[in-house]
Amino acid sequence: MQIIDGKSLAQEIRQQIAREVEDLKKSRDITPGLAVILVGDDPASHAYVKMKAKACKEAGIYSITHEMPESISQGEIEETITMMNRNPNIDGILVQLPLPGHLDATRLLELIDPRKDVDGFHPFNVGRLVAGLEGFVPCTPLGVMKMLERYGINPKGKNACVVGASNIVGKPMAALLLNAFATVEVCHIYTQNLAEHTRRADILVVGVGKPNLITEEMVKEGAVVVDIGINRLEDGSLVGDVDYEAVAPKCSYITPVPGGVGPMTIAMLLQNTLTAAKARP
Ligand code: GUN
Repeated sequence: MQIIDGKSLAQEIRQQIAREVEDLKKSRDITPGLAVILVGDDPASHAYVKMKAKACKEAGIYSITHEMPESISQGEIEETITMMNRNPNIDGILVQLPLPGHLDATRLLELIDPRKDVDGFHPFNVGRLVAGLEGFVPCTPLGVMKMLERYGINPKGKNACVVGASNIVGKPMAALLLNAFATVEVCHIYTQNLAEHTRRADILVVGVGKPNLITEEMVKEGAVVVDIGINRLEDGSLVGDVDYEAVAPKCSYITPVPGGVGPMTIAMLLQNTLTAAKARP
């Protein structure tokens, strides 16, 4: 069993990005810029946005966070997005999710210029991903593909099972694995007999948000297990969706939590922002 070390891979990628940002500044006088919109005071969202801003700074990427109160109107956020769309120094725009219930997230995501959609949530980029065309890909599933690639795991011809069908993680993950020629199953809350599906998987990717959802008997011997879950337990510790201690000995490869997929998400956000900056006219 080998542990897929997302933390060190992400660090390596971030150093490479920092070098490329430096080159872009020298050769074209371009400093990549990221605008983040953060609404309300969800502590997890604040923590993520803070990590994103710090990562930008370390890579030499300019970032600005528009912090807005819970009571903000749809129109005011739309104005901010429109302004960022027009701002030539901003290459990437990100609306931190989830948003308070009175806001129409879909409409906001659709307002982002698809060329600045570094989260890959705009239907334009979702469509391009499904069609196998170039475009911005959501950071978490993109990070998973990078990890597989780096560890020499080729999805071609493998049975892949994705547990969780969210727009942010499960659906784009399934599209990427399919584009890489895996046979893909997607399971979700209405799936009956989950274990029957997961046990068939050569590559099992789980992003649900439920500690210990995946137990030892649900995993095939020699499987690659990728745990996207991040759950904080009452004692303050972080765990994924996989019963790591019991499952790990059965795997050929497994990602830990923390130190697995999480750090890769941020590295991919920087990567997408750099890509957007390089595409400036
Ligand atoms: N909320 C949870 N994950 C993400 C993400 O990758 N991007 C944004 N914008 N919000 C999130």
